[in-house]
Amino acid sequence: MPDTVSTNSPIISAYRAATPGSASRAQQASELFPSGIVHDARYIEPYGIYVTRAQGPRKWDVDGRCYVDYFGGHGALLLGHCHPDVMAAVHAQLERGTHFGACHELEIEWAERVKALIPSAERVRFTSSGTEATLMAVRLARAFTGRPKLIRFNHHFHGWHDHMTSGHTNHFDGTPTTGVLDAVAGNVLLCDQNDEAGLARLLEQHDGEIAAAIIEPTGANGGKLPTDPKFLHALRRLTAEHGVLLIFDEVVNGFRVAPGGAQEAYGIRPDLTTLAKILAGGLPGGAVAGRKDILDLLDFAVTKGAGKEKIAHPGTFNGNPLSAAAGIACLRIIRDTDACDRANRFGEELRQGLNEVFEEEHVPWAAYGTFSTLEFFTNPEHIAVTPTRFDALQVPQAMLKSDKNAALVHKMRLAMLVNGVDLSGHPGGITSATHGEPELKDTIAAMRDTVRMLKAEGEL
Ligand SMILES: Cc1ncc(COP(=O)(O)O)c(C=O)c1O
Repeated sequence: MPDTVSTNSPIISAYRAATPGSASRAQQASELFPSGIVHDARYIEPYGIYVTRAQGPRKWDVDGRCYVDYFGGHGALLLGHCHPDVMAAVHAQLERGTHFGACHELEIEWAERVKALIPSAERVRFTSSGTEATLMAVRLARAFTGRPKLIRFNHHFHGWHDHMTSGHTNHFDGTPTTGVLDAVAGNVLLCDQNDEAGLARLLEQHDGEIAAAIIEPTGANGGKLPTDPKFLHALRRLTAEHGVLLIFDEVVNGFRVAPGGAQEAYGIRPDLTTLAKILAGGLPGGAVAGRKDILDLLDFAVTKGAGKEKIAHPGTFNGNPLSAAAGIACLRIIRDTDACDRANRFGEELRQGLNEVFEEEHVPWAAYGTFSTLEFFTNPEHIAVTPTRFDALQVPQAMLKSDKNAALVHKMRLAMLVNGVDLSGHPGGITSATHGEPELKDTIAAMRDTVRMLKAEGEL
């Protein structure tokens, strides 16, 4: 991240002038939290905005400024902020109790809704987060197959536990990231997505040793590097041929790209699926779902009957009643309405509108993405680009992922904040079913102003 404190940038000055309340909160926070933040994705220099309330596709900061929101609760809010049905369900449950330390009817209804929507979900186990879900999926896979190794794809994100760190943003040689044991990292095999030959080689080379392959089905980092659907089908075929379990990490995609997630959209049946975010309607929660014979490793009677060791799985907030109430309300709406389609349609209109701005302003960038995601290609190598005809699958992944333009992207995000739009750091964002015509108009106007601010500053 560039040193913005000493940078004499009109954009950064404008950001500071617009957000004095956030600046003072950030100062306080810097005495409490490393970098003043509680989630790495919220790190931005000189500081991030402090938000007090949100509604639908918008949120308001401590200075009373309104933003079109493309963070979307880190992807949890397909229905936007404070959907009235979800709020009512949570309020009603609050009156009844937040934790029973006992089984409850809501967990049954919640799981029934998951089963009804996610094609491969024969059994469900709730966790408290997506990270816990992928941790459990990997443990299940290793226990089920008796094999140690895990295939992961470079740049794919599956949470922050020890098995998922190398090869995400660094350590692409598979060495352990700091604090992780050699033996843990050593059992992870990193592979490039969309490289069918490389995958086939890896499966051959380690035949009989690999428990599972886990993938973000729409591509690394929620689609920043899109997968080729042909590769996903090859992945399913090749893993099955080698007795390797396929885990779809649908923590972001689940209930978003389609009600049944990427597995419905692409017509592929994984062995295990990890879920979180939308699953719990904007509250904390996660789940592993999938084949009964695999999840049976969590079953007291089945494991005992089969003479197998059961996988232990406590977890104070597993199936928490508040999350269950929110999740049920949310999944009901997803089943009964066109919420996924609306978010996807808005994503397409947004990408198109932004690309028209880039063309009109002669900026060789492109907005791209699939379904309800937004990504920006800022063209670090100055290749010829027609924004409205941009196809990310035709661009080398190293170029899509390059951080050569980090300083420019950083100013772009700050300028967008000045202009009333909160983009995530990809840079990009995620849309909801509540984003509509006013948000489209405001975002496009904000991008036009942003481009002009960047030009005035000599960045473009
Ligand atoms: C694909 C994917 N898997 C797993 C996770 C981890 O989920 P959580 O943040 O709930 O631990 C995330 C979080 O963004 C994610 O995007």
